[in-house]
Amino acid sequence: MSSRGSRGAQDPADGITAYLRQSEGRQVPAPAVLVLFGASGDLVARKLIPAVYRLCTEGLLPDRFAVVGVSRRDWDDTVYRERMRSAVERFAGPFEGRCWDRLERQIFYCSGNFSDPATYERLATRLAEIEGRADGVGVTGHTGSTRGESARPARIYYLSAPPDFYADIANGLAGAGLAGAGAGVAARPSETPGDADRIVVEKPFGRDLASAEALNSRLADLFDEESIFRVDHFLGKETVQNILVFRFANSIFEPVWNRRFIDNVQITVAEDLGMEGRGGYYERSGLLRDMFQNHLLQLLAMIGMEPPVDFSAQAVRDEKVKLLRSIRPLEQGDISSVAVAGQYGSGRIGDKEVFGYREEEHVAPNSNTETFAAVRFEIENWRWQGVPFYLRSGKRMREKVSEIIVQFHQPPHLLFEQGPTDALRPNLLRLRIQPNEGMHLRFQVKAPGPEVQLQSVNMHFHYEGAFSQAQLADAYVWLLHDCLLGDSTLFTRADGVELAWRVIDPLICAWEKGPHASFPNYAPGEWGPAEADRLLDRDGRHWHEPNAND
Ligand code: BG6
Repeated sequence: MSSRGSRGAQDPADGITAYLRQSEGRQVPAPAVLVLFGASGDLVARKLIPAVYRLCTEGLLPDRFAVVGVSRRDWDDTVYRERMRSAVERFAGPFEGRCWDRLERQIFYCSGNFSDPATYERLATRLAEIEGRADGVGVTGHTGSTRGESARPARIYYLSAPPDFYADIANGLAGAGLAGAGAGVAARPSETPGDADRIVVEKPFGRDLASAEALNSRLADLFDEESIFRVDHFLGKETVQNILVFRFANSIFEPVWNRRFIDNVQITVAEDLGMEGRGGYYERSGLLRDMFQNHLLQLLAMIGMEPPVDFSAQAVRDEKVKLLRSIRPLEQGDISSVAVAGQYGSGRIGDKEVFGYREEEHVAPNSNTETFAAVRFEIENWRWQGVPFYLRSGKRMREKVSEIIVQFHQPPHLLFEQGPTDALRPNLLRLRIQPNEGMHLRFQVKAPGPEVQLQSVNMHFHYEGAFSQAQLADAYVWLLHDCLLGDSTLFTRADGVELAWRVIDPLICAWEKGPHASFPNYAPGEWGPAEADRLLDRDGRHWHEPNAND
């Protein structure tokens, strides 16, 4: 979302950056060193290094830029560069040698255990050495800088390591003087947010309210809130960012975006895959922590929030937080009537036989962990009073599809008799997050013929038809770009993450109390357990099933 300000832009005449820059209006970040903790992990290989590479091909990396990977593996720069090259070849789309040749020289590696203070001493030495190199790769001595003494680039510490190590890493950074008082750039009052060192924290951010508060408070000892970037990768998806543009850059939708016109909102984030080797992680997490506390509540906030006063990080996040605060707290006594837990059994998806959750690797044979959840939320404010928000998400569902459906009220007075072929159906707006990103508006028309017969039709918008595929990048590309720019609009603020835990904690607490007698209660390839349908039946409603091909 680089249109949100003009911070951190570099002189456009700078060498290769200017040469590679493909489109006007995008900002090139100021010099930076990206330090990746968990450098040998899946996220780095699948998402982060491909995102760095994509920014490079788009001309959106500063000339003075370096990546420093940190992990336990006993690798060196050469091995790490080879690994990263294969990751880029595999996960980043078309491989362009020229860009890689440039980037490769800017990738370094520092081996070490996250709990060992010596790792951070080594890292500090390595950073100083990399930043001091005079061979064109080094990130200091940037004569084009207008920032006077802040010649040292911003250091961006990206925590993609297992969350159990977050506190160790924070302590290690502080112990080696890399964060907090004495950390150089971070400790100085900065000219712009882009100048300061930053820390980027992957989800899960804590495992409940108490642990999230503790982590927030530890990070706050070391970094200003503006320098803490809590990642929710859903917020980097084009279609999620588009929710705000759709709502607030068009005058026809906002007037009807309220309880007077909207009957209910449904958010589905379904996946057809099972554990894919992540059973151990999932046993400790479960669907609520993995998807609801973050991705689904963020979608809910974007759909429900009030218009921000401007598009700044502060204003947008203020409104999201207000919305989260308006969610009616789930009382222990209500939970069985507003929430449904599910766990998949074994069965078939298409022509493939698949294991049930309890047969997955690293999963207990009597596991109580939910792989599906459906919850009815109510928002207590003037806009949404009385409008239920139904959220559901699960593994091993029929297809991978994420969609938000806004169902409008039926017309108040029916002039037309319903025809035999088609019942009068309410207007539906479908915001398709993925795949086949787009929007569909359902409305009624008269079917041709002598009788007045109503029929539902759809007005479609597809990103694919309207924009070139090349313009759609993975969420991590724009998130990383924003981290480099110091723009935190798409990242969760401390109060936002805590409020989201406050919403979800009562559910987690209720569901962890005892075994779910009905587990497993849905078969692979279904839309979740039958109780999830009953949740809406009771309100006289039903789920609108997505179709990934729409
Ligand atoms: C992650 C979850 O945050 O999001 C995964 O940990 C899930 O379990 C993934 O599969 C879904 O993201 P996407 O972008 O593939 O829809």
